[in-house]
Amino acid sequence: ETVPLEMHKVRIVQKLSLPPVERRLEVINQAGNNTFLLQNADVFLDMLTDSGVNAMSDQQQAAMLVADDSYAGSATYTRLESKLRELFGMEWFLPTHQGRACEHILAKVLVTPGTVVPMNYHFTTTKAHITLCGGTVEELVTDAGLAVTSTLPFKGDMDIGKLTAVIAKHGADKIAFVRVESGTNLIGGQPVSLKNLAEVSAVCREHGIVLVMDASLLADNLYFNKTREDACKGMTIREITRAIADLCDVIYFSARKLGCARGGGICIRDRALYERMRGFVPLYEGFLTYGGMSVREMEALTVGLDETMDEDMINQGPQFIAYMVDELSKRGVPVITPAGGLGCHVDAKRFVDHIPQSQYPAGALAAALYIAGGIRGMERGTLSEQREPDGREVFANMELVRLAVPRRVFTLSQIKYAIDRLAWLHENRALIEGLIFYDEPEILRFFYGRLKPV
Ligand code: F0G
Repeated sequence: ETVPLEMHKVRIVQKLSLPPVERRLEVINQAGNNTFLLQNADVFLDMLTDSGVNAMSDQQQAAMLVADDSYAGSATYTRLESKLRELFGMEWFLPTHQGRACEHILAKVLVTPGTVVPMNYHFTTTKAHITLCGGTVEELVTDAGLAVTSTLPFKGDMDIGKLTAVIAKHGADKIAFVRVESGTNLIGGQPVSLKNLAEVSAVCREHGIVLVMDASLLADNLYFNKTREDACKGMTIREITRAIADLCDVIYFSARKLGCARGGGICIRDRALYERMRGFVPLYEGFLTYGGMSVREMEALTVGLDETMDEDMINQGPQFIAYMVDELSKRGVPVITPAGGLGCHVDAKRFVDHIPQSQYPAGALAAALYIAGGIRGMERGTLSEQREPDGREVFANMELVRLAVPRRVFTLSQIKYAIDRLAWLHENRALIEGLIFYDEPEILRFFYGRLKPV
């Protein structure tokens, strides 16, 4: 048995409580069976997301104390900008308050009505911004990437045949940009290979199309490049990062997942494109040298980005996730394989195969897991999709409950507890009922919609 080994020690802790099952039942009812609407005080293991909740290092905390506070031109900003230039080799940078703000600006500048954005897979906020600007999303992940169980090391890879076909169909001038999401979120944190990115990049360059990388989950992706891709085994994490960046025209990220608790930014190779986007930063985010981030956040981000180049740091999440995936598989609990980044993804389609997709199996399972163990996961399935304009449901390719493993936050005993509760719930899965909405918001309904048992 391989057991992950933490290359850090815990020096600041936060007390947790585990409310009794009666209380858990009461509060999940009040939350409309939506785990987003639970109070953290009622949650034992918060596995909702890795966003803004990864543990910080002592070095990050220390850097926050020397932050240079000013509205314009702070030394803190210069340090961040230089670090990004050093890592990604792109000349221009725009800071934002978080990842979706980057998507907002990119969509405003590059997406016009009738344009198409091919991508390996969509992310909720990305798709919403592109659609709001009148564009459509084409998902071009390989068919094999959508297989829930697999041994393929890079299920996030784009199908190059599909990409050239989409460009031929619409014409290169109708392609707003091509987007590759590292550590593909909605299909189980599955990585993209450097080789595939190089192929996508070659196609984009041939047709003069801007290649944008969503690097929010880059840390996990880098770990998988290093450990699963032969061509990367002899490279340092820093070298892999640079090789990835050299293939892209724009790299944007949510700093909530990459290096800090908040923030984001867009790195841009081309000055003219930078200038087209620049005006939106003071308009929506904040002045050009903070973009909605506090100087403390920018300092923590600068150090966090540097620490992302340390394999002992970025391996922690994926190793814990792999442990969880292996142990759950041994107990017969259906999970996405191979283990990816971000979290362990439970396959609700198989787990609760008595619940039809129209009754949100993953949402029902997420609510049940909270009742069973005080564990808060996130629905990533049909509930997280948007209805068609005519009201029809869009059934998701996968019905997942994501149990995020924020980096350096949980101990192995806590992970073992989660495994035990999931195994118990699986044995008693007949107890779980489907859900229907009684309060369904139009935009991003999964965040604050409310549901009841059918
Ligand atoms: N892109 C990806 C791949 C993401 O995973 C996220 C956020 C965003 C963009 C948006 O960034 O939250 O800073 O505005 N994912 C979070 C999650 C919300 O829990 O998976 P943001």
